[in-house]
Amino acid sequence: VLTRRSVALIGLGNVGRSLLQVLRSQAPLVRERYGCEFRIVGAGDSGGAAVSQAGLDPAVALAAKARGASVASIAAGAFPGMSAVELVRRLPARTIVLESTPVDLRTGQPGLDVCREALGRELDVVLANKGPLALAYAELAALSDLGRAGAPALRFSACVGGALPTIHLGVRDLAGSRILRAEAVLNGTTQGILRMMEAGGSYAEALAEMQRRGLAETDPTLDVEGWDAANKVVILANAVLRQPTRLADVAVEGITRLTAEELRAATARGERVVLLCLAERAGDGYRLSVRPTALPLDHPLARMGGDEMGIVYYTDISGRLSMTTRETDPVPTAAAMLRDLIEIATS
Ligand SMILES: NC(=O)c1ccc[n+]([C@@H]2O[C@H](COP(=O)([O-])OP(=O)(O)OC[C@H]3O[C@@H](n4cnc5c(N)ncnc54)[C@H](OP(=O)(O)O)[C@@H]3O)[C@@H](O)[C@H]2O)c1
Repeated sequence: VLTRRSVALIGLGNVGRSLLQVLRSQAPLVRERYGCEFRIVGAGDSGGAAVSQAGLDPAVALAAKARGASVASIAAGAFPGMSAVELVRRLPARTIVLESTPVDLRTGQPGLDVCREALGRELDVVLANKGPLALAYAELAALSDLGRAGAPALRFSACVGGALPTIHLGVRDLAGSRILRAEAVLNGTTQGILRMMEAGGSYAEALAEMQRRGLAETDPTLDVEGWDAANKVVILANAVLRQPTRLADVAVEGITRLTAEELRAATARGERVVLLCLAERAGDGYRLSVRPTALPLDHPLARMGGDEMGIVYYTDISGRLSMTTRETDPVPTAAAMLRDLIEIATS
C-alpha cells in the first residue's frame, strides 16, 4: 500500500535546496523501502510562496533559486510577498511542514509562528531551524506529540548535529540507562575554523570557507560566539536529559578570543582545543556549558577533523557511547529532515 503525504518547505536556502534535491534523489528508495510518496504542495522563501495541490516540481523550484529568484516567481500558484505563516494557513490538512528558515534568537520568527500555526492546525512539523526550540521548547512540546499522545508530530533531529543522530541515540537507544555526562562538538563552523587555524589559516579565511560550503549560520556570529552550540545544548537538555532548560541556563563562551598560538601550544602539550558542549551532573540535574576546551589527543572528540562533529554519552549501564559524523555540505542535514519525515509518514 502506498502512503501519499503532502509536504511544504519553508526556507529554500542551503538546507531547503538540499532537501529539494534529496526528496528527488531518494524518492525511488523511499517508495520501495517504506511505501511512501511525498508531494510538495507548498514552498516559501523571503520573497513569498508557491502553492499547488497538484504538486510543485522540485527541479522548477531549484531552478528559480539558482537564478536568485523567489519561489513566488514560479508561474502557477505563486504568491509574491506571502508570509510563511500565511502559507501554513493555506496548506491542505495532513501536510507535513518542513521548516529551515534562519535562526533568530530575539524573536524566534518566522519559525516560531510557523510552528504554532502548523501544530495548532494539527499539521506535523519537521525543523532544521533551532530557534523556535531554543526559545520555546516547553510551549512547542505541549502543542505536539512530545507532550500529548495523539497531537501532531514535532521532530527536529536535524537541529542537533546535522545527520548525527544525537537525539535518537539519547532518547531511543539509551532507554533504561542514566546519562551521567554528555560531551559534544555540535557546531561544524567553529570546528572547521579551529582546525584550519591550527594548520596555519587565518580566522577570516577559515570562516569564509565554511560560509562557501553552506555550513555557517546565516548570521555567523551565532556560530563563533557559541550561540548555535548553546541552542543545541538547550534542545538536547530538554529532549534527552529531560531537564527543562532555557538559553539563559547555559554558560556560553565562543571562539572569537582564541589565537592560533594558543591552538598550537595546545597541540605541543598533546591536546586539541574544541568548542565543547558539556552536560555534567550537578546535584539532581545537569550543569550545562559551551566553551573552548583542551582535550587530550586520544579523546574521541579530539581525534576529529575539521569537517566532523561528534558526541560522547557516558552512561550507568550502556557504557560510553561515542559517535561522529563527517559533513562537508548541508546534504546530511537534509537527510536528517528526510528521516524525520519518513518516521512521521510511517507511524
Ligand atoms: N546550513 C547548515 O548546514 C545547517 C545545518 C543544520 C541546521 N541548519 C539550520 O537550518 C536553517 C537554514 O539554514 P540555511 O543554511 O539553509 O540558511 P540560508 O541559506 O540563509 O537559507 C534561509 C532560507 O530561509 C528563507 N527565509 C529567510 N527569512 C524568511 C522569512 N521571513 N520567511 C520565509 N522564508 C525566509 C530564505 O529566503 P531567500 O532564499 O529568499 O533568501 C532562505 O531561503 C537555519 O535555521 C540553520 O540553523 C543549517
